[in-house]
Amino acid sequence: MTLAFMPLGLALVLLVTNASSTSPGAPREQRVWAKVGDLVVLPCHLSPHELQRSWKQLYEKTAVRWERHGESSHKEPHMVLEVEYSGLLKRARSMMPRASVRETGFRQGNFSLWIEPLLSEDAGHYEALVRYGKETRRCQLELGMVTVTVNPPGLLVEAEPLLLNCNSSHPAKLVDMRWFHNGSLVPISSRFRSRHGALSISRPTVSDSGPWRCELTYSDDERVSASFNLQILGFAGPVSPVVYAAVGSAANLPCLLNRDPSASSIPGVSAHWSHFAGGDLKIWDISRNGSNGSFTLHLSEVGPQDAGQYCCAVSIHGMTITRDVTLAVMTGEQWKPRG
Ligand SMILES: *[C@@H]1O[C@H](CO)[C@@H](O)[C@H](O)[C@H]1NC(C)=O
Ligand SMILES: *[C@@H]1O[C@H](CO)[C@@H](O)[C@H](O)[C@H]1NC(C)=O
Ligand SMILES: *[C@@H]1O[C@H](CO)[C@@H](O)[C@H](O)[C@H]1NC(C)=O
Ligand SMILES: *[C@@H]1O[C@H](CO)[C@@H](O)[C@H](O)[C@H]1NC(C)=O
Ligand SMILES: *[C@@H]1O[C@H](CO)[C@@H](O)[C@H](O)[C@H]1NC(C)=O
Repeated sequence: MTLAFMPLGLALVLLVTNASSTSPGAPREQRVWAKVGDLVVLPCHLSPHELQRSWKQLYEKTAVRWERHGESSHKEPHMVLEVEYSGLLKRARSMMPRASVRETGFRQGNFSLWIEPLLSEDAGHYEALVRYGKETRRCQLELGMVTVTVNPPGLLVEAEPLLLNCNSSHPAKLVDMRWFHNGSLVPISSRFRSRHGALSISRPTVSDSGPWRCELTYSDDERVSASFNLQILGFAGPVSPVVYAAVGSAANLPCLLNRDPSASSIPGVSAHWSHFAGGDLKIWDISRNGSNGSFTLHLSEVGPQDAGQYCCAVSIHGMTITRDVTLAVMTGEQWKPRG
């Protein structure tokens, strides 16, 4: 599955993203890893030493040509982007607005190619040929793809089990997979289990939202990682709130989602409150249909019989999440208004 299938703006939004690779092993063609939709920079630059030696020549005219040698189907290399001596920029039609170079970087010996957003067909071997003064420079690298999958796809609601998976087009055998959340290694526990290389979260909570990163280690010691942002819809605020109100006064029992469903284009969110009082079950439907994510229950005048536990049940796409709120009603002796 590619990210193109994910309804953006819904629960899972893969935002700030980077994929990287470190290869402590023997030198080989540099590999750059990235995810579909990312911004990727294919590096090509002079070393500080080279720069010192040839900075004068960089002030002469520079020509840069980036080519791609695709996977087996396209044997012939084809031009991705070319900056001629005259400064004229040419781009392959398929890469039209997506590929660019920063010409301001040329004089610092930096000829890197930017691609944004990355498409899966961009994978392959890339080569840059740079000519400046009497010098030439060739850069070769491979662009590989990392895929992040989140199941269920689309909207993620707290307490619904979810499965995270990461894979890449690396040809070697996968030997290890680690997950990081908010920058910390996620320990395997009863809540986070490793299943066939994927990470399952049995009861996700709102605090599982935020930046995640997977790190894949292959048998040749190369590490590939990808970052993504997880958003889980659930309740905001304390887990078991208590509301205090004086007899005869009004009370507002909070029930607030961590995101506004209408702003995130999540339709069909509704809520109802229930409360057991003297053997009777009272029910209030909150008509405001999810707008704002706030389903506050307003009681205009509370009496001692109203005290107790209230339950706010919000249904989202056929799933229901609940939160209990306690109302404490203070009688005259307990409640001494100031002034
Ligand atoms: C080259 O430029 C790219 C952006 O165009 C930047 O990300 C990279 O760090 C630069 N590399 C060097 C060595 O300056
Ligand atoms: C990665 O996973 C996706 C979906 O699970 C699958 O379509 C793709 O073929 C996999 N890629 C590799 C290189 O295994
Ligand atoms: C991780 O960060 C997100 C915000 O980026 C926060 O909502 C969440 O509580 C954090 N969770 C943990 C376990 O640190
Ligand atoms: C939600 O409420 C608004 C007005 O408050 C109304 O226009 C809209 O049709 C309602 N949507 C649904 C799905 O009930
Ligand atoms: C949204 O909720 C806040 C409380 O969280 C409230 O103050 C505000 O008036 C609400 N806005 C609308 C448009 O309902």
